[in-house]
Amino acid sequence: MRLRNIPQAKDVIANSPFVVQEPKETKGKWNLVFGNENPVHIEVGMGKGRFIMDMARLNPDINYVGIERYDSVLLRAVQKRETYNMEEIPNLRFICMDARELAEVFEKGEVGKIYLNFSDPWPKDRHAKRRLTSRQFLACYDQILALDGTVEFKTDNRTLFDFSLEEIPEAGWVLVDSTFDLHHDERLNEGNVMTEYEEKFSTMGNPIHKLIAKR
Ligand SMILES: C[S@@+](CC[C@H](N)C(=O)[O-])C[C@H]1O[C@@H](n2cnc3c(N)ncnc32)[C@H](O)[C@@H]1O
Repeated sequence: MRLRNIPQAKDVIANSPFVVQEPKETKGKWNLVFGNENPVHIEVGMGKGRFIMDMARLNPDINYVGIERYDSVLLRAVQKRETYNMEEIPNLRFICMDARELAEVFEKGEVGKIYLNFSDPWPKDRHAKRRLTSRQFLACYDQILALDGTVEFKTDNRTLFDFSLEEIPEAGWVLVDSTFDLHHDERLNEGNVMTEYEEKFSTMGNPIHKLIAKR
């Protein structure tokens, strides 16, 4: 998702209390940002933030960090966050950054769960390493994830899903669970929180695929 350049985006983000402005300085200290020792879960490529905002409201004992690389997109998440009171959703922060820098922002073992939702497919073979479920990104998640941590990935893109299923063992990871049709899988769909893209594509009739992986 790349929205047109929005001139005020940089200013709004730079002045938002919900955005961590110097995330590299927070490495190993996320408990201080949230003021508690609760687990930290992140969504990489959160887009406009509907999923992570709903997750944070539903799970006040988990701290959430939403990561988005485009300020024009993050702006929408910040604006949505601003529709709630300041004291509401104290367990949610945003970062504007590229996921390639995750290991500079989170300490080894500092993240309990990584959500990847409807990640960009990068269809050309020569761009495979840019896919957020590539072995290169799994190696990056390996550097920040807790020992028992998991990656949860949802998409309607079957080609990307099949690629991800192959990358998991290639990267030395283990597939914990998976489904090709989440919304008709009673067990895996229990408590499912929809993302913006999930709603859009499932309304069009596309089945939603989901996998959970660990090391
Ligand atoms: C297709 S959108 C999906 C948005 C949302 N997760 C959803 O399911 O509705 C993918 C988002 O991931 C972001 N993204 C892609 N690669 C990224 C990266 N390397 N680092 C941070 N964000 C990234 C894109 O800018 C885009 O907003």
